[in-house]
Amino acid sequence: MTELLATTVSVTKQGNILVATVDNPPVNALSHSVRSGLIEAVKALESDAEARAMVIVCEGRTFIAGADIHEFKKPMVAPLLGEVIDTLDAATKPIVAAIHGTALGGGLEVALACSYRIALEGSKVGLPEVKLGILPGSGGTVRLPRLAGVEQALAMISEGGQISARDALEKGIVDEVVSGDLKAAAFAFTGKVIADGARLRRTSDLPVPAFDAAVLETSRAALAKKYKGFKAPLVAVDLMTMVTETPVVEAIALEYKTCKELLVSPQSKALRHIFAAEREALKIDGVDAEVKPRDVSKVAIVGPGTMGRGIAACFLNIGIPVTLIGLTDEGLATAVKAIGKIYEGSVKRGSLSTEEMERRMALLTPTTSYDGIGDVDLVIEAVTEDMAVKKDVFAKLDAVLRNDAIIATNTSFLDIEELAGSSRNPARVAGMHFFNPANVMKLLENVRAARTAAVVLATITTLGKRLGKVPVMVGRSEGFVANRMLSKRTREAQFLLEDGATPQQVDRVLTAFGFPIGPFALADLAGMDIMAAARAARVARMSPREQQCNIVDRLVAAGRLGQKSGAGYYVYDENRKASHDPAVDELLDAHRRERGFTARAISDDEILERCLFAMVNEAARILDEGAAARPGDIDVIWTNGFGFPTYLGGPMFYADQVGLPKVKAALDKYAGLVGDQYFKPAALIERLVAEGRGFYG
Ligand code: CAA
Repeated sequence: MTELLATTVSVTKQGNILVATVDNPPVNALSHSVRSGLIEAVKALESDAEARAMVIVCEGRTFIAGADIHEFKKPMVAPLLGEVIDTLDAATKPIVAAIHGTALGGGLEVALACSYRIALEGSKVGLPEVKLGILPGSGGTVRLPRLAGVEQALAMISEGGQISARDALEKGIVDEVVSGDLKAAAFAFTGKVIADGARLRRTSDLPVPAFDAAVLETSRAALAKKYKGFKAPLVAVDLMTMVTETPVVEAIALEYKTCKELLVSPQSKALRHIFAAEREALKIDGVDAEVKPRDVSKVAIVGPGTMGRGIAACFLNIGIPVTLIGLTDEGLATAVKAIGKIYEGSVKRGSLSTEEMERRMALLTPTTSYDGIGDVDLVIEAVTEDMAVKKDVFAKLDAVLRNDAIIATNTSFLDIEELAGSSRNPARVAGMHFFNPANVMKLLENVRAARTAAVVLATITTLGKRLGKVPVMVGRSEGFVANRMLSKRTREAQFLLEDGATPQQVDRVLTAFGFPIGPFALADLAGMDIMAAARAARVARMSPREQQCNIVDRLVAAGRLGQKSGAGYYVYDENRKASHDPAVDELLDAHRRERGFTARAISDDEILERCLFAMVNEAARILDEGAAARPGDIDVIWTNGFGFPTYLGGPMFYADQVGLPKVKAALDKYAGLVGDQYFKPAALIERLVAEGRGFYG
């Protein structure tokens, strides 16, 4: 073997086959050196008379996972990816891409520009650019439909999903799926190609397969609904239409122009911000990256209620056995049935096999005793939100658990320090705050207490990712971050009703902003009794105006419990379709009369600003207190927890885009209108405005 180059791409030779090996950890992104290296590798192939073909293979965990996202912020330095792709496409000898892990974005574009592609069993391919608010810019939209057909290509490009190597084989995207030693398989495959005459097979020479043009318009309508507010999925349909009508060279140029325009769009900036913030959130403030998380292979969950059931399902989904502890056999039987129902739903929808459902259910052990959990690695306590009850559970756990077992509480507002202090080993205690329904919601607020051990923090973070969640570490704070901020939006939504707005007006403004559901429709969905109970738990600590703003209690008293009773802020038909109900206008009028409010016309701007900036103001306090480590953590929490539109980057990113001086001016205005105690700008906002900075500097 001869070493020809020594960059992130090295070229070696084995017989008459050159091997270009990309080694650019962590994900072999197409950084400048990789782009240059690939061009050099093709040059080496062309200039070596003995070499008949070349294999591109990657070191580490994956094939090329796409363009280097970190380079997007700087002016791109030649050679650009388009040049790499053109060079691969123009090669006069066949090149074989050997895929393992994931071939994504520019990585798949590299593979598509090769003559042949083989993929290791279990690997995946995709064009996820749309998730970053852009689209493939180096021939992906032009080459993929030529191999997979327009319909399949559009589905992959407009939604950004990944498909398995097996699916890719079936769709014609890869030529062979192999198992075992990828490099050996690549040599064998390339040997056959050479034996067959080393024929080139340029994807760009293929015609676009025939397709039904109606598919494009049907997809456009479906995408507009599914990705409401997102620009790139719809541009993907335009691109695909263009690609089917335009010769390859012009199509590639148009695709590049479109990608470049999208790259500087506010949506792409926001989506890339969230991508980076989600990864940054995994780095725990003050915990050395060297701290190794512990393995979690057995867990117990105390409390078989709604949260406990959903949390149990999260673990069963990834094959971790769960002991579910409850007070009574009846309660446990109900819980087991409810968990089974979650899976039966998936089986009905075709997303789970019956065997897999049975395998998961077999991992569940319901019990009323703490005796059998001496060997678990982690216990999640999900009993009622009562400090005394939780402390009693902690005492029972301390008596039976191994010393290094972690105790995590799912409390949503109790004091984590008091709870941790009640354990004989506070270092093992943390919070794992799941959101309802726990098996569906992506957000996981992990909570650190002052004495939580670093290894515990690292373990629950890694575990969160393993569970398929987006974990964010937060600190002590009533309601932590998500619910503490939400409580301010809830307060303003209620105050706005007192001031004269209607539930439908507030919901319309917030859904037009991009939230998937308005606060009042959401309350109807959650159930007014649940909302009233949550309010009752906090009411003693509320301001006098909030205490008296008891619209929720009035709705409960009127039997309006939300969707489940057919009426709440709205009235519902048999299909749960909401309509305006004049009875709610009367109820609100009565409340305003009793409380001495005169309804006034409220502008949409006022609704939006009061709801959003009240949250941003609280978030600034949370940051100042250190309950969140970074503004990005708050953006990740809100985009994953409460549907803040990712294309706006989360509340903190959005506030920076509006401009903090404007945010502060609005806060000052509402401090005058609603009250200083509700809108006085947080000290951090005052400081940042004075320094001419935003949350992100
Ligand atoms: N560029 C630079 N760094 C990247 C990257 C990329 N495309 N993708 C991931 N990384 C980095 C992450 O930031 C992270 O870095 P830190 O460890 O420093 O935080 C590290 O790689 C590991 O990433 P993950 O934690 O996400 O690892 P994972 O194993 O869970 O997932 C992955 C791996 C599936 C590749 C995932 O990282 C991913 O989906 N990456 C994005 C892929 C993508 O969007 N590619 C398209 C880019 S745009 C393009 O290619 C077209 C174009 O030319 C315009």
